[in-house]
Order: sequence, then structure tokens, then C-alpha cells
Amino acid sequence: MKIAVIGAGLAGKQHIQVIKNNKMCELDFIVDPSNESIEFCKNNGFLHFSNVTEALTTQKPDGAIIASPNSIHMENSLDFIERGIPILVEKPLSSDSESALSIVQCAKKKNVQLLTGHHRRHNKIIREAKDTIDSGQLGRLVASHSMCWLFKPNDYFNSWRKSISGGPVLINLTHDIDLMRYLIGEIESVYSFESNANRKGKVEDSAAVSLRFKNGAIGTLSISDTILAPWSWEHTSGENPIYPNQKESCYWIGGTHGSLELPKLKSWQSLNERSWWKPIYSKQSPTYKNINQPLSAQLENFISVVQGRAEPVCSGEDGLKTLLVIEAIKSSARIEKAVKPKKIQI
Ligand SMILES: NC(=O)c1ccc[n+]([C@@H]2O[C@H](COP(=O)([O-])OP(=O)(O)OC[C@H]3O[C@@H](n4cnc5c(N)ncnc54)[C@H](O)[C@@H]3O)[C@@H](O)[C@H]2O)c1
Repeated sequence: MKIAVIGAGLAGKQHIQVIKNNKMCELDFIVDPSNESIEFCKNNGFLHFSNVTEALTTQKPDGAIIASPNSIHMENSLDFIERGIPILVEKPLSSDSESALSIVQCAKKKNVQLLTGHHRRHNKIIREAKDTIDSGQLGRLVASHSMCWLFKPNDYFNSWRKSISGGPVLINLTHDIDLMRYLIGEIESVYSFESNANRKGKVEDSAAVSLRFKNGAIGTLSISDTILAPWSWEHTSGENPIYPNQKESCYWIGGTHGSLELPKLKSWQSLNERSWWKPIYSKQSPTYKNINQPLSAQLENFISVVQGRAEPVCSGEDGLKTLLVIEAIKSSARIEKAVKPKKIQI
């Protein structure tokens, strides 16, 4: 399978590496208007184009990974979908739900496979956590808590990351929300507070969010890109070597018969009577210690979907639903009221 990569920045370069490591596919070409990418392609012998339209006049890849800035996802995605080429779009699917809906609707109309790059769903730890929860081992789900406390250095904030789509809610919390939807269920309403008291930029540097799930569970999430701390999926999962690994947990999911902390895959249960006066025992799954390569697993799912051998683990519709929850979080922070994610017709 020949795969094109659109946008050769931080995320795009990781996809390029993963494509190069996979025996079932090869890198077809790269599209990126920057001078750095021309140099990068020259140094590595990659075919380079400065825009998608120009590339698609001569090339016909079997699939493309869109890793350009969020505000360009729609334009890039539609160019491929119109030509019947399957795409995997980096998260968030787009910078707003209207444009994300256009991508999903266009893909449906043209019958083109569309996947969203919430790669954490492909992590073996998450796959096992989902199996544990779905098996009923935790009983009825009651509550969850997620932490995403990070410290981003000043040079991270290039031009687009200072804009409205550059805050940690859209960049980072979107992953945590997607996982909570995947593991616990659809979200009925949210209540959130945001703050930019430290960075004083146009966008939030921190947020606190409460969730009500449709199945009756409730949840809380705390996020900041200005706290020096080890409690985030980025730091604890070990899935991306650019983040020094911390042996901590960042998600806690609790039910009537037990609870689970992630990514440690440590489950807590009582042997006999469930009571706060009786001992609680924990066991940890060996999967925690395995090396995880969710980007490779995501690429394998993309290849299988294109070849008609599998369904997307994270579809375009999933990306859209997660984005609708993120928009509800932003809206709740603006009006300081509980907000339900918008209902949409695809
Ligand atoms: N899954 C993840 O964990 C993860 C991590 C990082 C970024 N992302 C996502 O990947 C996307 C890119 O983020 P990034 O951090 O790599 O940004 P980046 O700024 O490092 O890279 C973006 C690249 O896109 C290029 N670009 C700009 N306009 C373009 C166009 N019209 N066509 C093609 N390329 C264009 C830029 O020159 C740049 O090289 C975003 O959607 C982001 O949310 C996902």
C-alpha cells in the first residue's frame, strides 16, 4: 500500500517513521509547504509537493495520513475523499464540528474510509482495560478521574499553537475525552472552568471538567500545560519516547465491584465482602510492562480497513463525537453552565 503524509511536522514525522517500519506499506509522497520540509525530503530521498492539489494531479496513493494543522484538515481531507482515497486524519478531526461534520458526510456520500487518529485507543493497555470493563469485572461503572498535568516549554508555542485551536483542551484533553467515551460510554453533559491565569494567552492554559455519562456514571478531568508534574498519559504510558516515562497512573475508573488505575493496569477488588472495613487487593497486568506502539497498531488498522479486512477502531464519526464533547466543554467554560454536546445528523 502506498501512503502519503500531509504535513511533515511533529506528528507527520512520527507517521513517516512508522510507515517506513511497516512491511505492508511504503511512503508515497509528502505534502508540506514549508522550506524545512523541502530540506527534510531532500535529505531523506522522499518525493515532495507543496500542496495536495498539485500532488494529486500526478499521484494516486492508496491512502493518506493528514497531519497538517487542525484548521487545514477539512480542505486536505476533502481533496482526498473527492478522489476516493481513504484517509486517517490526525485528531482533532477538524478545528470545529461543522467542518468535521462536512468531512464525515462527504466520506459517507463517497463511500470512502475515514479514520481519526486518536491513537491511544490502539494502545494494548487501553485494549485490555476495555476488555476488563466490558467483562463487568468492575461492576456498574460509577465514576472516573483523569489527570493531564504537563509543562510545555515556551518554544512549543509557535504561531498556530498560540491561536484558538492551540490550547491544551483541543490539543491534549481531546485524547482523554476520546478514551473516556471509548472506555466508559457516551457523554450526556459537561460542566467546565478554564483559566489562562499563568500563560495569559488567548487560549486556556488549564481547565477543570465534570462529566455526566449517559449510563449514569460521572467523571472529572483536570488539565494544564503549565504544571510541572508526572501525571498525564503522555508521561505515564511510555508510548512515546519523547516524554520521559514516569511510573505513575493518570486515569482512575471506579465501579461497584472494583476499580482500575491506568496505565498501570492495576485493578482493585475485594475477595469476599465489599466493605470499607475489609481489605482491598490489587493485581497488576503484565501488559503494563510490554512495549507499546499504538501508532504502528493504528497504521495496521488503517491498512486493514483499506483492504476491507477490519472496521476502524476510531472512525470519523468517533472523531466528530469527541469534538462535539470538546466544544461543549469550551462552551460551558464560556457561559459557566452545564452544556450537552450538540446532537448531529450524519
Ligand atoms: N496523535 C497525537 O498524539 C498528536 C500529536 C501531535 C500532533 N497531533 C496532531 O497533528 C496535527 C499536526 O500537529 P503538529 O504538532 O505535527 O504540528 P506542526 O506544526 O509540528 O506540523 C504541521 C505541519 O503541517 C505543515 N502544513 C501547514 N500547512 C499545510 C498544508 N496546507 N498542507 C500540508 N501541510 C501543511 C506545516 O508546514 C508543518 O510542517 C494536528 O492536527 C495535531 O493536533 C496529534
